[in-house]
Amino acid sequence: MKRSHTCGALTAEQVGQAVTLCGWVDTVRDHGGILFIDLRDRYGMTQVVCDPDDSAAAAEVAKSTRPEFVIQVKGTVRARPADMVNPRIATGAIEVVGEGLTILNTSKTPPFPLDEDKAAKVHEELRMESRYLDLRRASVQRGLILRHKMAIAVRKFMDEQEFIEVETPILTKSTPEGARDYLVPNRVTPGTFYALPQAPQQYKQLLMVGGMDRYFQLARCFRDEDLRADRQPEFTQIDVEMSFVDEEDLYGIIDGLLAEVMAASGHPRPELPLPRMSWHEAMDRFGSDKPDLRFGWELTSLADVFAETEFKVFANVLKSGGVIKAINCKGQSGIPIRMIDEWTALAKTHGMGGLAYIRVQEDGTWKSPIVKFFSEAEVEALRAKLDIVPGDLVLFAAEQAKNVDPFLGKLRLEAANFAGMIPQGDFKFTWVTEFPLFEETDAGRLVSMHHPFTTPKPEDVPLLDTDPGSVRAVAYDIVLNGVELGSGSIRIHDSALQGKMFDLLKVSEEEKESRFGHLLKALSYGAPPHGGIALGFDRLALLMDGGKTIRDVIAFPKNHKGIDLMMDAPSTVDAKQLHDVHIQLDLPPEVE
Ligand code: AMO
Ligand code: AMP
Repeated sequence: MKRSHTCGALTAEQVGQAVTLCGWVDTVRDHGGILFIDLRDRYGMTQVVCDPDDSAAAAEVAKSTRPEFVIQVKGTVRARPADMVNPRIATGAIEVVGEGLTILNTSKTPPFPLDEDKAAKVHEELRMESRYLDLRRASVQRGLILRHKMAIAVRKFMDEQEFIEVETPILTKSTPEGARDYLVPNRVTPGTFYALPQAPQQYKQLLMVGGMDRYFQLARCFRDEDLRADRQPEFTQIDVEMSFVDEEDLYGIIDGLLAEVMAASGHPRPELPLPRMSWHEAMDRFGSDKPDLRFGWELTSLADVFAETEFKVFANVLKSGGVIKAINCKGQSGIPIRMIDEWTALAKTHGMGGLAYIRVQEDGTWKSPIVKFFSEAEVEALRAKLDIVPGDLVLFAAEQAKNVDPFLGKLRLEAANFAGMIPQGDFKFTWVTEFPLFEETDAGRLVSMHHPFTTPKPEDVPLLDTDPGSVRAVAYDIVLNGVELGSGSIRIHDSALQGKMFDLLKVSEEEKESRFGHLLKALSYGAPPHGGIALGFDRLALLMDGGKTIRDVIAFPKNHKGIDLMMDAPSTVDAKQLHDVHIQLDLPPEVE
């Protein structure tokens, strides 16, 4: 080994020992001929002092080092003078007297400073172009180390629960998970393509048919979709499938798994079982299927308060079967009117005629464009129902529930974010259960809310023929702090019911055979009842790490356009490669 210790290892216990360290020069400071080098590696930072009186040769080499040079230091550990002890770092009690320095490699000046505070201000794209340098920063390394610890915790827990990790193919066939597939041309049979898996959904079901009983995998998934802060084109799932279970068994396993992951990440274990609410309740109370439970401001229905109202806007909405709901943004009457204007514009994009509000002054008076239309009884009922006190800001939306709920759900988050009312460092999990089986597209077509392998609730099966839109699925999401961590369902294990599902989804006979024939066939050979879930591992790591985007917990992430700026991928390929896979380009005119 070229080193005896890492840069994070030495403490007062090693004082007097001869040591050899290797690492990167973080900083070099010249204090009147005595050189102080902060030497850095993954484990920490050690101060090296090169005094010509100790070793003229070492001091000479030290003088020629620059930040990011890689050096080897031979020296002796000594205690720092009492007033130089730095209690904030593990090695803060000691320094190494440099007696022999070797430059193992030089470095150009990095294109951005690696210092944490300065790097945070650098444009992310610049850091991504040289991600290998960015990776030298302690905060980035911390994220990756955390991710590793989580993966170990997952594997250990799942192993203890008798799950088997099985790798499933990357070169496969299209599976419907709602995004576009990435395609890989097949050289051998011209005109055919593999698809990269959006998830191992069908494979894990086929593993159940194969008797594997309890499967998990840290599975890579690929989806060509619009990217956001919590979405990457390739990402990792903790993918799980179990036989002979109902949803309660799944909840039990995932509750236990999440508690382990929390502990492995240095957070308190959540109280188990994790709370649950139905999809219907989540939409009604939070206007979202991924409710953020870290703060209140719930959506409150005011249909009873305004049942007899003279206020035309509300009366008309109620008459046409709509809802009137409000959120009470506690203590936020001081929010500037320009924000309310902005939110009014947002309301209009959600099909609302406007956004009514009440700002409750400190003296108790209500400032509002609509209160003048309310009767005294309505004012009192409203005050009681929403617990309105001085300082509150009440925001109203009146329209059909399908417009009001998502709008107020969004507004609740926007307002709370704006007001800084969402507590950081809290972990609020909830299961959201009983998702609808289908949603209707604007064109009036039914599509699966989760995926077409999800089983309807047994008691709702008769509704498949009469009122499919109201059928509930045995499908669930696990949500943490308003983020959808994972989704799953109990699957259809009956070939006939699966066939019927494809019919309802208007999958043609031909497509049924070509895309799902293998699955339908497998289900007809004694498929056990089974179900599962997949958790977004990157999202989970991000939440455990407390960072801002999942790019922080991915070693080599892609930017919002799906580009790996460091490798410059995707990129063009040469004509021969295209020819080999029988592809001719037909590019849009704006592309050269
Ligand atoms: P679903 O499509 O809901 O379910 O995905 C499960 C979880 O994967 C994470 N996720 C993503 N993370 C980062 N970038 C993305 N582009 C991305 N897309 C999804 C989310 C999500 O909750 N086969 C089913 C699961 C099942 O039924 O067992 C599936 O993939 O955290
Ligand atoms: P109007 O009578 O249209 O001037 O509306 C009176 C008030 O009600 C205004 O403050 C509007 O912003 C508000 N308003 C109008 N339509 C709605 C709606 N659908 N939901 C909530 N508030 C509304």
